[in-house]
Amino acid sequence: MSENLIRFGISLPENLSRRFDQLIARRQYASRSEALRDLIRKTLIEDEIASDAETLGVLHLLYDHHKHELSDKLTTVQHDHHEMIISSTHVHLDHHNCLEVILLKGKASEIQQIADSLIAEKGVQNGKLYLTAKGE
Ligand code: NI
Repeated sequence: MSENLIRFGISLPENLSRRFDQLIARRQYASRSEALRDLIRKTLIEDEIASDAETLGVLHLLYDHHKHELSDKLTTVQHDHHEMIISSTHVHLDHHNCLEVILLKGKASEIQQIADSLIAEKGVQNGKLYLTAKGE
């Protein structure tokens, strides 16, 4: 990494600065600079997601594979959007329960739609989508 570093000063109200330093300590950042860099990246990623740019999605589904045709339905939805599915991992947790983790790429709104349709399938007990982006 030979990226040029830019330095600039920031003025903060004392209370905000103190609370920021407490957060830095709690989250184990080595410096204010590293904490600020992460905050900026986080905001840029949120902005990318909001602007519907290319994003990445991590979706987990927890379901009972004994539910009628559920596994087939979940697989069909993924095949319908195969160009957006990077990978999927299926774990047989116990006799009944399956955990599936699906990685997706594409526009945030489209990833959200696919995730919603999978989570809404009858028999899916729990599912959650996490969206991220490169933040560049
Ligand atoms: Ni299974």
